[in-house]
Amino acid sequence: MADQILSGARDAVLKQSGTLPEDMPEIRGYDFNQGVDHRALLNSFLTTGFQASSFAMAVQEINKMIDRRLEPVEEQENACDSQQSQSGCTIFLGYTSNLISAGVRETIRYLVQHKMVDVIVTTAGGIEEDLIKCLAPTYLGEFSLPGKELRQRGINRIGNLLVPNNNYCKFEDWLMPILDQMVLEQKTEGTCWTPSKMIHRLGKEINNPDSVYYWAYKNDIPVFSPALTDGSLGDMIYFHSYKNPGLVLDIVEDIRRMNCNAVFAKSTGMIILGGGLVKHHIANANLMRNGADFAVYVNTGQEFDGSDSGARPDEAVSWGKIRMDAKPVKIYADATIVFPLLVAETFAQQASKLTADKKSV
Ligand SMILES: NC(=O)c1ccc[n+]([C@@H]2O[C@H](COP(=O)([O-])OP(=O)(O)OC[C@H]3O[C@@H](n4cnc5c(N)ncnc54)[C@H](O)[C@@H]3O)[C@@H](O)[C@H]2O)c1
Repeated sequence: MADQILSGARDAVLKQSGTLPEDMPEIRGYDFNQGVDHRALLNSFLTTGFQASSFAMAVQEINKMIDRRLEPVEEQENACDSQQSQSGCTIFLGYTSNLISAGVRETIRYLVQHKMVDVIVTTAGGIEEDLIKCLAPTYLGEFSLPGKELRQRGINRIGNLLVPNNNYCKFEDWLMPILDQMVLEQKTEGTCWTPSKMIHRLGKEINNPDSVYYWAYKNDIPVFSPALTDGSLGDMIYFHSYKNPGLVLDIVEDIRRMNCNAVFAKSTGMIILGGGLVKHHIANANLMRNGADFAVYVNTGQEFDGSDSGARPDEAVSWGKIRMDAKPVKIYADATIVFPLLVAETFAQQASKLTADKKSV
């Protein structure tokens, strides 16, 4: 009887395996006996497992976007937007506001400065925090600093970053005359302002090479922010509307421009850092072309609550926002750690090819 039970237990514990495909990677991490070699360390992520493997797959996915981007393209007819990219792969980059407040701003600025991406989407804070940093700095504080004490001292907290309220006062002084000028041009020249045209203008006015939007202006890279009023920019526009009313920002012209960038692209890649508006706005534009060809998400969102922020790429496949044959990657991580490393292994590695003049045929 005991023998029978033991034999059953043994069969259960030592159940024989079926065969696995021969080309399945073996898990093996970095060996520090090789010394400290950061590139080799990042290469070892593919066979490390969990989010390390997702990181390595995202590197492969972005390098596929870059390879496609470097392919020569024929001049396109029927383009509905004069600023449309003529690259083999139109790369959409989206990021939440806090990433501009953080030092990810410098990584994004590098990509925009060297025209490595074609279309940008961010939220209001993602615009104003870049411009404000040209007027006064943001500091490293602590997550634990008490809100009441900070409020009494006129200091605002974004995670463990601190922004003195005076920075926003400087922003007001800088912005108000520009808003006056925009109202004047609307009234006298018939300018129809949109959020993207306003961001283009602000990039010109800031005239500072530290700024993401200075380079977007210089390189004619469209920046879309359909909720541009949800931040300090909105506060300023609100105050300004009492002093000098009449400014109109048209989001209809911008949605046409945004979607055309996807519709008339040869192929598209989405790199989306964080969730919310930036994630959906890019994915929805790609629905207009029956899905993006390549996609990388970096965010901390989870799908159990049904949020779009947490939705895995496969949910976007069901909507036609990512192609059925695509190999999208989601990395569950803080983008402040992951995105500079992703750029180090992709765009920065291929910088000489990406920045060489591309020929149209
Ligand atoms: N500095 C700021 O953050 C700032 C400043 C002014 C205004 N605002 C406004 O606040 C509103 C909300 O901001 P938002 O829509 O830009 O994003 P958010 O901060 O609400 O983030 C949206 C989601 O993105 C993901 N996410 C955020 N940070 C991440 C990170 N570091 N790594 C990985 N995933 C991350 C999370 O899932 C999060 O729920 C916007 O309207 C914005 O204009 C923000």
